Amino acid sequence: MKKVLLIGADGMLGGELKERLEKKYEVVGTTLETLDICNRDAVFAKANEVKPYFIINCAAFTNVDACEVKEDVALAVNGTAVGNIADAAKANDATFIHISTDYVFAGDLDVEKAYTEDMQPNPVSAYGRTKLVGEENAKKAEKYYILRTAWLYGIRGKNFVKTMLRLSKEKDEITVVDDQNGSPTTTTTLCEIIEAIMEKEPEYGIYHSTNEGFTTWCRFTRKIFEFANISTKVRAITSKEYKEMYPQSSDRPTNSKLSKEKLHKIGINPKPWEEALKEYLKEELK
Ligand SMILES: NC(=O)c1ccc[n+]([C@@H]2O[C@H](COP(=O)([O-])OP(=O)(O)OC[C@H]3O[C@@H](n4cnc5c(N)ncnc54)[C@H](OP(=O)(O)O)[C@@H]3O)[C@@H](O)[C@H]2O)c1
Repeated sequence: MKKVLLIGADGMLGGELKERLEKKYEVVGTTLETLDICNRDAVFAKANEVKPYFIINCAAFTNVDACEVKEDVALAVNGTAVGNIADAAKANDATFIHISTDYVFAGDLDVEKAYTEDMQPNPVSAYGRTKLVGEENAKKAEKYYILRTAWLYGIRGKNFVKTMLRLSKEKDEITVVDDQNGSPTTTTTLCEIIEAIMEKEPEYGIYHSTNEGFTTWCRFTRKIFEFANISTKVRAITSKEYKEMYPQSSDRPTNSKLSKEKLHKIGINPKPWEEALKEYLKEELK
C-alpha cells in the first residue's frame, strides 16, 4: 500500500479525502494542531518520519475576505509554507499534490472563453496573490500536481450552499451577484479527480479541476432552491452593487471559468455541476 501524508486532514476537502483515501492507501493525516505547515522543521520531520509516496496539501487560509486584512498571515500559509512542503517532498522523493484556485486569474478574459492552464495568472485579491506564490513554491517539488479548483463546497465545511439554505429560512428575498462566472465544485468531485490523478500519475503540472459547466452565483442559488423546493426569491445584483453593500469584501474575478480540456485529455471527465449539486443536496438535506 502506498503511503500518503495528507496535510489539512480536518478541513472541508481534507476530511472527505482522508475518509476516501484510507480505503486504498496508508494515510497519515495532519491538522493545524499536529502540524503547522509554517514550521519548516516540523514539516521536514513529519515527511522524513512518514516517508510518503504522495504528499497532499489541503491546508490553506481560505477566508477570501479575511485575506485582505491579514495578507501577511495568508502569505505565510498559502505561499511560503507551500515551499516547506514542496522542499520536504523533494527531499523524500515524494510526489506533491497541491490545491490551488481559479482566483489566481484576473477574470477579465472574454466571458465566452475559459482559462487554460498555460494562461498568465494575475490575481485581483490578496487570497489570489498568496495562492499564486504557493503555486510557484509547489513547483519546487519537481514531481508535482497543482490542481486549481473553484467555488468549492462539501458536507464537512461552511460553504455557499449552506449559507443560501440558511438565508432562505430567514428571508423572503435574497440578493446574489450575477456577473461572476465559474464552476461550483463539490469536494466529492474534487476527491474523485485527486484519486484519478493518483492512479494515473499523468505528466506533472497544473490541472484545472472543477465540476463541468459554468454558471453565476445567482443562477447557482436559483438551482439550489429549485432542487431543494425552496420558494425564496433570488434577486440578481452586480458585483459593484455588492461591493457598495459590503465595502470590506475582496474583489473577485468576473470570469473564473476554468477549461477542463487538459483533464479530459488524460481521461478524467468530472460530472456537470448540476448533477453534483443534486447529489450534495440529497446528503445535506437528509
Ligand atoms: N473553499 C473554496 O471555495 C475554495 C475554492 C478554490 C480553492 N480552494 C482551495 O481548496 C483547498 C481546500 O479548501 P477547503 O475549503 O477544504 O479549506 P478549509 O476547510 O478552510 O480547510 C483548510 C484547513 O487548513 C488548516 N490550516 C490553516 N492554517 C494552517 C497551518 N498553518 N498549518 C496547518 N493547517 C492549517 C485549517 O485549520 P483551521 O480551520 O483550524 O484554521 C483548515 O483545517 C485549499 O487549498 C483552498 O485554497 C478552496
